[in-house]
Order: sequence, then structure tokens, then C-alpha cells
Amino acid sequence: MSETINSYFNQLVNKLKTIYSDNESESIAFMVVEHVLNYSKFRYSENRSQPFPKTKKGKWKTLEIRLLNSEPIQYIIGEADFFGLKFKVNNNVLIPRQETEELVQLILSENNSEKIKLLDIGTGSGCIPVSLKKKRNNWDIYATDISNNVLKIATENATENNAEITFLQDDICNSVAFNSDNKFDVIVSNPPYIPIMEIDKMHRNVKDFEPHLALFSPDDNPLIFYQHIAEFSQIHLNKNGTLYVEIHEKFANEVSRLFKNKELKNINIINDINEKARIVKANY
Ligand SMILES: C[S@@+](CC[C@H](N)C(=O)[O-])C[C@H]1O[C@@H](n2cnc3c(N)ncnc32)[C@H](O)[C@@H]1O
Repeated sequence: MSETINSYFNQLVNKLKTIYSDNESESIAFMVVEHVLNYSKFRYSENRSQPFPKTKKGKWKTLEIRLLNSEPIQYIIGEADFFGLKFKVNNNVLIPRQETEELVQLILSENNSEKIKLLDIGTGSGCIPVSLKKKRNNWDIYATDISNNVLKIATENATENNAEITFLQDDICNSVAFNSDNKFDVIVSNPPYIPIMEIDKMHRNVKDFEPHLALFSPDDNPLIFYQHIAEFSQIHLNKNGTLYVEIHEKFANEVSRLFKNKELKNINIINDINEKARIVKANY
């Protein structure tokens, strides 16, 4: 008897569990079903007892081999979900994370003005500015990244999602993209924040596939990006403007102290859904 779609699914989930958690394994397997068979979850549950289509076996196997080599599913299919939208990704850009969706949600919940000028520093796939623009079409949104390869993908994502964003290449450690009378109401950033010394503790799917330019900060100064973001904000935030940064849970107090030393005020640490310190916000 030929094997069913369900047995292919279950076998893949079991193999993935050697690398990922149970929940992650299942959601990756659903993404494979969607990509290979073009089935939604509903269509899968309706058809799971059907024989697995012969013509799709090769594609399924190829994906399985890459997944079991720890390659993230999003790089294999070239796409990631974020805030209900689709973003193209390749190995130049970080795969957008759920914690960052919480950052977008916080900004939306705290900023209801019609007109806001906002800057995202280190934009990666463009997930933050594009998601914000889809909800606040009148906002004037800028985004920077040090890498032109990254900005290419971000620009494609803005176009695909029909979101008008101004992208500029800029190094936050030596910023030249904006003159001093260019002010923002909101500055947001999810900068690289993992000290390189943590690399040995990281999963292969992250350290071997995601761009190190997006992940790591130097061991001798892991807060270097926050220091430059704070100095940039001193010049470029409007009075009472707000700075939001995503952080490493270990560095909440250090980032807060650094912001205080840079004369930022109303500093708040905000936990993510897993109760880990994840966002620091401050006013100028
Ligand atoms: C952690 S990723 C965040 C990407 C995206 N904002 C997200 O949340 O998924 C950090 C980003 O900062 C960029 N980056 C690294 N060094 C930078 C620098 N000196 N100036 C500006 N951007 C930088 C990287 O290319 C990367 O896209």
C-alpha cells in the first residue's frame, strides 16, 4: 500500500524533533506541506489519508534533507511570515522573530497620531517599517541598514507589500545619512546584540545559516550599537520623541543605564510574552 500524506507528515515531524521543539517541528512540517503540496492546514486535514502524490516525493525529500541539516525552513522556501505579512528572506537577512512582532505591536498601541516620522535602524528584511506602514499609512517611514544586499531585500519586501518606505544605506556607528535638523518622532531598532562568546551555545540553524552581521556584537563592547543609537537619538529625536530598542534579556539594566547616561528619560524595560526582558523604551 502506498504511504499516506499523514504518514509523510508524521515521519517528518519525528525527524525534526531531533533538532526542534515539538511545536516548532509541527509548524515546520505544516510549512513543508504548504510549500510542496500547496495545501492549507484545513486542506491537509481533509486529505491526510490520501496517498502521497508520487510527483511530489522528490521535492519533499530534498526539503527534508536540507531541514535535517538544520537549514531554516524560511531560507529554503525563501519566505517568512511576520505580523500577518509575507517577507522574502535570504541568508543576507535575519529571519524576523516573534519577539519583534511584539515590538511592532507596542509601537502601534502607543502611537496613534496621524502624522509620525519614524526611523528603523538596522532594518534587515524591512519587517518593522513595512508592518508599521501597513497599519499607519500616513506615517513617514525611513529605514537604514549598513548592508546594500540587505537593503535590496528590504526594498523588494516594501514593494511586494505595497508599503512606501525610504531606505538608506548607513552605518549607525558612523552615521552620515541625516543632517542634524532631520528629526524623528519615533526611532526603533533591533540591532545585533548577541556577544560572540555565546556562539558555542547557539543552535546550528541560527549560527550556521543566519548572517553574523545581524546577530553578533563584539565581546569587549556588546552594547556598542545601543551606545551609537542613543547618541544618534540625542541629535535626531524630537523633544518627547520615543526610542524603542529590542534587547538581549541579559542586558536590560545595562542598556537602561547607558540610556540614562545619554540623557534619555522615562526609561522602561518591557518583557516579552515569555516574561523575558525584551524591549527598552525611552523619551528624549
Ligand atoms: C538583529 S538584525 C535586525 C533585522 C530586522 N530589523 C529584524 O528585526 O528582523 C540587525 C540588522 O542590523 C544591521 N546592521 C549591522 N551592523 C550595522 C551597523 N553598523 N549600522 C546599521 N545597521 C547594521 C544588520 O545588517 C541587520 O540587518
